[in-house]
Amino acid sequence: MPTLAAAKTSNAGYCPSYLPVAVIFGGTSGIGQAITQTLAEYLKGRVHIVIVARNKVAADNIIASLPKPADSEAAGSKYEFMACDVTLMKGVHAACRELSERLPKINFLVLSAGVFAFTGREETEEGIDKKMASRYYSRWAIINGLLPSLRKAKEAGEDASVLSILGAGMGPEVDLKDLGLKKGYLRGIAG
Ligand SMILES: NC(=O)c1ccc[n+]([C@@H]2O[C@H](COP(=O)([O-])OP(=O)(O)OC[C@H]3O[C@@H](n4cnc5c(N)ncnc54)[C@H](OP(=O)(O)O)[C@@H]3O)[C@@H](O)[C@H]2O)c1
Repeated sequence: MPTLAAAKTSNAGYCPSYLPVAVIFGGTSGIGQAITQTLAEYLKGRVHIVIVARNKVAADNIIASLPKPADSEAAGSKYEFMACDVTLMKGVHAACRELSERLPKINFLVLSAGVFAFTGREETEEGIDKKMASRYYSRWAIINGLLPSLRKAKEAGEDASVLSILGAGMGPEVDLKDLGLKKGYLRGIAG
């Protein structure tokens, strides 16, 4: 793993010839917000960022604080908010359809939306558990739905990557007979 100093140096030198498009689920707080701000700062506003979350006021405040590009580099640069509750797959599919239709490509897809809670299984109106929806089902659905847009970037020779922020390597062995965690909820979700 590179050192923090090496990562910072590499980030500081990042200056692609094209205008990157980033979609950041969970960009209104914590790690997603920090990624949004860092990307905008290193690129000096020469970027199109879509923050996807529920809290529009928080997104608007973050967007107001982000650097604006110089006039000569402003073409295509944009910050915007899209409302989506990742615990409801109907809304997740609709958001992905809209993003695929509207964006020319996606270079960076960040999946950071989620809640940390010690409560037990809580079913959504779609019959799946809320935490599983934000941590697993929505992330799979988003990657699947936006893969064609990521491929467009890749095929143009540009960066195309997905970053999923959760708790890597902490889970217990998967019970393939209980993937929806209807029986072993705490054992499955706590890790
Ligand atoms: N920080 C930790 O120690 C830690 C540990 C383990 C796992 N994680 C996971 O890592 C990720 C990032 O952590 P963090 O500390 O940066 O989280 P955070 O500060 O709580 O931010 C969570 C983000 O997810 C969004 N979000 C929450 N519920 C949502 C929903 N139903 N639909 C759409 N967006 C939703 C929030 O935006 P809105 O409120 O605007 O919707 C916010 O932007 C989270 O998924 C978290 O569960 C964090």
